[in-house]
Amino acid sequence: MSNTQPAPVASERTPLKARKVSFAWEKTPLHWVPGDPFTTHTINVLHLLLPAGERWFIHVYRQVLPYIHDEQLRQDVIGFIGQEAVHSQAHDDVLPRLKELGLDPTPYTAQVDWFFEKLLGDRTLPPGRARTWWLMERVALIAAIVVHERLREGEEVEVRDPRNRFPLAEAPAYLFVAGGIGITPILPMLRSVAASGADWRLLYGGRSRATMPFLDEIEKLGAEGGRVTVVAEDEAGHPDAAAALADTVEGTAVHCCGPEPLMDAVGAALPPGRTLHLERFTAAAAASTGSAPFEVELRRSGRTVRVPADRSVLAAVRDELPYVSYSCEQGFCGTCQQRVLEGEIDHRDELLTDSERDDSMLICVSRCRGERLVLDL
Ligand code: FES
Repeated sequence: MSNTQPAPVASERTPLKARKVSFAWEKTPLHWVPGDPFTTHTINVLHLLLPAGERWFIHVYRQVLPYIHDEQLRQDVIGFIGQEAVHSQAHDDVLPRLKELGLDPTPYTAQVDWFFEKLLGDRTLPPGRARTWWLMERVALIAAIVVHERLREGEEVEVRDPRNRFPLAEAPAYLFVAGGIGITPILPMLRSVAASGADWRLLYGGRSRATMPFLDEIEKLGAEGGRVTVVAEDEAGHPDAAAALADTVEGTAVHCCGPEPLMDAVGAALPPGRTLHLERFTAAAAASTGSAPFEVELRRSGRTVRVPADRSVLAAVRDELPYVSYSCEQGFCGTCQQRVLEGEIDHRDELLTDSERDDSMLICVSRCRGERLVLDL
């Protein structure tokens, strides 16, 4: 679909607020799109759907308001609530008119009401994560609906790059070690180094050749120079990571992804002068709980939370700020990384670099060595 409206100017900002909307239904014929009853009734269906849907938007966003600390966003959400209230009323008014014209909308609207009030309504959940999740899922659903309905070609949308926690390091030579499906993040690196003419080797292990993905492509990439060593367990046992590492030159970047024992073997046999880059499927044994309780000040929000010994910083912070991002909760994806303004961090992940550790932490697993941390949140 193309858009004939001029693209909005990036700096333009239209404040959201309730605007009066009304329809003169009493003067509207049943087939109000002239000569096109199909289009008329298709659009009429929206009138049946929208009042309940817009009331549901309002209901959900009212629950969200206490969590919004950005004043401008808060005003926008209040404006959106007002706008939806006016719209739902305006759409509601058509229902008696349809009935007058011989189309009883009640059987349909009863189902729509059930959908929004029961299926997507509040659930009896204890306070805490489950309740917050349900609220966030509904907000995400509203966002998806609004984006689908209103975003037009030419509009500017701010997006963020995907995070890459396992980039290809700059190095004079490479050793890649992959176990089974651990080849997945390694494969684009192989393509890249093969295309650039870099010096590289791959040690690739798996249960059997039949279960090892991308084998054909990998063997083609390494066809020249014996770069690829494939070790299928049913033929030759486990790959010998120590031998492959012993064969590397100083400065080699070693990238490894696979099962924990393979990663441990690579870490243990790493000769000096090589750098190690690991991508884990699951976290190394990182305990997010178990130390003394401490306090975390959320400086920008002006709040302070207590982190007891049996909860993570993430869990405590999300009680106050449920929008804080996270994913794995095990210290290996990096989604929950937060800047630390004050306090001594007890780092319990293996992901952050030394320089990142100076002033940030993964709040899903890491804790505090003292009594207080200050986060830039
Ligand atoms: S949520 Fe993945 S590292 Fe914290």
